[in-house]
Amino acid sequence: MRFLDIGSGLGGLLMFVGRERPNVTVEGIESAPLPFAMAWLRLKLTAGPNVRALYGDFWGHDLSDYDVVYAFLSPAPMAALFEKVKKEMKPGSMFISNSFAVPEVAPDEIIKVDDKRKTQLLIWRF
Ligand SMILES: C[S@@+](CC[C@H](N)C(=O)[O-])C[C@H]1O[C@@H](n2cnc3c(N)ncnc32)[C@H](O)[C@@H]1O
Repeated sequence: MRFLDIGSGLGGLLMFVGRERPNVTVEGIESAPLPFAMAWLRLKLTAGPNVRALYGDFWGHDLSDYDVVYAFLSPAPMAALFEKVKKEMKPGSMFISNSFAVPEVAPDEIIKVDDKRKTQLLIWRF
C-alpha cells in the first residue's frame, strides 16, 4: 500500500503514519525548501525505511500509484486539486482532505476527529 501527503510540511504526519503502519510506503511531497529540508533530516534521523520526503510541486506529481492521498492545504486549490485527483487516482483508492471541502462535490465520508481543532477529515473513494 502507498500513502502520499501532498504538501507534507515538516513531516509530522509522515512520521506518525509511517510509525503506525510500517508495512505502508509513506511519502510526502513539499515545495517549500525549508520545511522540506527539516522534514528530510527529521525522517532520516528518526523514521523507518518506509517513509520518504520528496521535494517538489504536487501539481506535477503523478498520483496514479497511490492508494491513499492526503491533503491539508487551503480552500483555494481544492476544485482544481479534485480534478487532478479524479483523473489520476486508481479505482479502490481514496483521497482525504483535512478540513477543506471540494466545491459542489460531497465527500463519501466525514470523520470528526476528537481534537482541539474539531478537525474533520473529508474522504472521497474512487
Ligand atoms: C498546512 S501544511 C500541511 C502539513 C502537513 N501535511 C500536515 O497535515 O500537518 C500545507 C503545506 O503544503 C505545502 N504546499 C502548498 N502548495 C504546495 C504544492 N503545490 N506542492 C507541494 N507542497 C505544497 C505548503 O508549503 C505547506 O507546507
